[in-house]
Amino acid sequence: MINTKHQSILVLDFGGQYNQLIARRVRECGVYCEVHSYQLSPEKIREMNPCGIIFTGGPNSVYLPDSPRVPAQLFEMGIPILGICYGIQAMCHALGGKVATAITSEYGKTQTQFDVSSPLFHGLPSSGITWMSHTDYIEKQPDGFRSVAHTDHCPVAAMECADRKLYGIQYHPEVLHTENGLQMLHNFLYLICGCTGDWTMEDYAKTAIAQIREKVGNGKVLLALSGGVDSSVAAELMSKAVGNQLTCIFVDHGLMRKNEGDEVEAAFSGSELNFVRVDAEKRFLDRLKGVEEPEQKRKIIGEEFIRVFEDEARRIGKVDYLVQGTIYPDVIESGSGDAAVIKSHHNVGGLPDYVDFKGIIEPLHLLFKDEVRKLGLELGLPDYLVWRQPFPGPGLAVRVIGEVTREKLNILRDADFIFRDEIRKAGLDREIHQYFAVLTSMRSVGVMGDGRTYDYTVALRGVTTTDFMTADFARIPYPVLETVSARIVNEVKGVNRIVYDVTTKPPATIEWE
Ligand code: XMP
Repeated sequence: MINTKHQSILVLDFGGQYNQLIARRVRECGVYCEVHSYQLSPEKIREMNPCGIIFTGGPNSVYLPDSPRVPAQLFEMGIPILGICYGIQAMCHALGGKVATAITSEYGKTQTQFDVSSPLFHGLPSSGITWMSHTDYIEKQPDGFRSVAHTDHCPVAAMECADRKLYGIQYHPEVLHTENGLQMLHNFLYLICGCTGDWTMEDYAKTAIAQIREKVGNGKVLLALSGGVDSSVAAELMSKAVGNQLTCIFVDHGLMRKNEGDEVEAAFSGSELNFVRVDAEKRFLDRLKGVEEPEQKRKIIGEEFIRVFEDEARRIGKVDYLVQGTIYPDVIESGSGDAAVIKSHHNVGGLPDYVDFKGIIEPLHLLFKDEVRKLGLELGLPDYLVWRQPFPGPGLAVRVIGEVTREKLNILRDADFIFRDEIRKAGLDREIHQYFAVLTSMRSVGVMGDGRTYDYTVALRGVTTTDFMTADFARIPYPVLETVSARIVNEVKGVNRIVYDVTTKPPATIEWE
């Protein structure tokens, strides 16, 4: 956790699914914030001295005996509070109001009326769509509160006690489906909490660098560099903080895209840090021989990665800290807490217990992708690295369906290169957030010249997304797809059919394996 002397907002977490998103939105508004458990003691909160507190949503019913509660003291501190979803209910309950099961639950987009005399809705239209997700509702407000928004089924969609600077919202202002939701949060931060917006990535970088320096001292630091945005930004940040005390090991597993290994090397070999590139293609391909099952492939790659890394780390000798470029979406998707494990991400959880080190540094673990990119630019990384689309740790191995061979990898690399090249030429590379080719390993009959072919089908995938947790398929114009298709079948031997993936996530995932 990065500590800061800036104005800050404390987000108290009641276990809802959008909690980190709230934090992300607050930071988008230029205000630093930290997420802590709702159990954080009032003493600790006083010590942190936040400008405001936000209670998040959560899955419980506040009137049940074991539900998370907030101590009444919190409301006496004079700190502005905004309760969202479960948060408004927790506030209502704590202050003597009544929360009950709603006669009609509301889920999804809901037409809502606002009282624009409330500072929460300052400058906004008096009606709009909000994103609701609740079965309980405020039946009776606590004394001193008034309702400042309602829907057809919910008389208190927002409430305020302006004198005490206490506010509550039943819907989710943090999700994009709520019209002007960000502005409502902005109003809370600026008009109610008095924030001035003194938080920028420049500050984050400065603070993080100072704290890393202090923590590391003269110690040695080791980082596994994949060349992806996250590990590159982490490497740059660490390098700015501790220079050549940092060694970056780039395990080239032979599962990278075309030319990628060389590009990574070119980007980092001139820096002050120690850069080691390990050519481990053979090791990985040997271990993947005959393996078809996606999870098994992922596990093997994860394990082998650790072994190769271990061999290199031994050469370096004693290391004090290990850096991980983990970011928040990886943490959720890898099944922390109660979420189901969809895919094993090899960059999370698989901590190498062989390296003798004092501790882990995860300088990006609270940041979303867009924040990591901003930080990368702030640190002076080149555009092409910062805007590099996400690439899975197991690389092209999860884009070759079934068994991975060098031949298939080469076909995929060439097809993928053409696809990326055409997307870039069409000026779509920022619009489409992730796009790549998949070698389906399915073969079909075609005709080329006058002869029959029996070759591979390549699938193209392009998605638009804000957080990679849900995604839509990109509407790539037909003429672009046409060019890509023609180029791939003409230029890449072994491919005679191209298909475009038109599934959203969910139900599909972005990667095919
Ligand atoms: P899925 O396929 O789960 O992917 O919808 C979501 C995002 O995560 C990327 N991805 C990975 N990233 N290690 C990573 O760092 C992995 O093992 C991994 N698997 C998938 C994927 O490319 C997409 O951006």
